[in-house]
Amino acid sequence: MLKRVPGTRDILPGQTELWQKIEEISREIFSIYNYREIRTPLIEEEALFNRSLGKSAEIVQKQMFLIKSDNDSYALRPEGTASIARAFIENNLDKTNPFLKLYYMGPMFRKERPQKGRFRQFHHIGCEVLGAEDADIDVEVISLAGRLLKAYSIDGYHMTINSLGCAHDKRELADILRKRIGPRLSEFCPDCQTRFNINVLRVIDCKNEGCKKLIQELDIHESCLCPGCKTHFNKVREGLDALKIDYKVSPHLVRGLDYYTRTVFEIIHKDLDSQQNAIGAGGRYDTLIRDLGGPDSGAIGFAFGVERLLLVAKSLPAKDGQKLVYLIALGEEAEKRSIKLLDRLRKENISSDSDYGAKSLKSAMRKANDAGARYVVIIGEDELKKDALTLKDMSSGLQEKIKADEIILRLRK
Ligand code: HAM
Repeated sequence: MLKRVPGTRDILPGQTELWQKIEEISREIFSIYNYREIRTPLIEEEALFNRSLGKSAEIVQKQMFLIKSDNDSYALRPEGTASIARAFIENNLDKTNPFLKLYYMGPMFRKERPQKGRFRQFHHIGCEVLGAEDADIDVEVISLAGRLLKAYSIDGYHMTINSLGCAHDKRELADILRKRIGPRLSEFCPDCQTRFNINVLRVIDCKNEGCKKLIQELDIHESCLCPGCKTHFNKVREGLDALKIDYKVSPHLVRGLDYYTRTVFEIIHKDLDSQQNAIGAGGRYDTLIRDLGGPDSGAIGFAFGVERLLLVAKSLPAKDGQKLVYLIALGEEAEKRSIKLLDRLRKENISSDSDYGAKSLKSAMRKANDAGARYVVIIGEDELKKDALTLKDMSSGLQEKIKADEIILRLRK
C-alpha cells in the first residue's frame, strides 16, 4: 500500500476545523494590528537559503529538500523570512512601501527526524515587518505574538529574549568565545566542536547538559553590545515592561539562523518535550535585505509552528455552533421536492445537505446526527399531501409540522 512520506500528515475533517479556526483567529488579530497577507512560492532557489540562513545553520547543512532541475537547484522552503525578504527586493516594495507589515501562513519543509511536534512538512503562521529599526516595532511584534496566543486560548508558556547586537557586536562576541572555549573544546559535544569552527555563537545555546555546565563554568554570559545596541535593547525592555508583557532575558539565547541581529526571542511551552518545546520564535534581521542585494532596511518578525500550537491549545474556542440543515426525503416524489428545497436553501446561504435517497427514516436520522445537523427537515407522504414539512430541532429534540413556504423564515429565526 502506498503511504504518506514520513514526517508529513493528512489533516482530516474533524481536524481541519481546528486549523481553520486558528487561521481565522490569526487573520483577525493580524488585521487588528494592520498586517497584510503575503503568499510566496513553496519553492525557491537553493542559493536564497544558503545566503540568508547561513552555512552554519543546521537547516542549510542537512535539512533542505532539494530539487535538481537541469542546471538549477531549488529548495522546498524551510522557512518564510528569506522568501519574504527576496519578494520585498524583487518586487521593489521598498519604493512604494518603505514600511511594510506582512503576515503569512503555510507549509514549510525540513528534513528532520520525525517525532512528536517535529515534522518534515509543518506549518508556520508568522509575520515580518520590513523597513523598521525602531525598538517600538520590536515591542509591537512581541506583544502581537502574545495577543495571538491569548486569542488561541494558549497559556503555560514563557518568553525569553536577548539582544545579539549588530554585526560588529556579533563578531566581537565570537572572538571572545573562541578565546574562552578554544582551550577546553574537547570537553564539548561533537556538535559544538563543529559549531566552534563555523558559528561559535551557537555553542552558548547548546541544549546538551554537559555543554551547558561548561558554559557556566567558563562564565560566558557577557554580550558585547555597542552603545547603540544597548540603548535599543533597553528601549525594547522598557516597552515590554510598559505593556506588562512577561519575559525573561537570557544572554544564552542565540537562535540557529545566521541572519539575526539585535533582538531575538523564543516562546517555550511547558507541556512539550524539551527538544521541541518552542511554539514560536523570531527576531530582528537588520542586515539580511542588504545582504541579498536590497536597500538598507531593518526588519523583524516571528513564526509560530502550527502543529505545536495545536498540541498545547487544549481549549481552542470551538467553531461557531453547527448550523447545518439536513433534508430527509422519503419516496420518489418527496425526493424531487427535497432537491428543489435544497437548492432554495443554498441560494439563501443556509448551509444544508441531504442524504439523497433515504432508505428509512431511522438510518437517515442517524446520518443527520453524524453530519452534526442542527435541524432536520423531513418530507414524507403526509407532508406532501398537506404541502407541509416536518422540522426537527436536533438539540432540543422538538419536532413540529410547518407550512412548506414558512421554512426559510423559520430557519432564519
Ligand atoms: P524557527 O525557530 O526555525 O524560526 O521556526 C519557528 C517555529 O516553527 C518553531 O518555534 C517551531 O514552533 C516551529 N518548527 C520549526 N521546525 C519545526 C518542525 N520540524 N516541525 C514542527 N514545527 C517546527 C524560523 O523559521 C524563522 N523564520 C522565524 C522568524 C520569522 N524570524 C524572523 N521572522
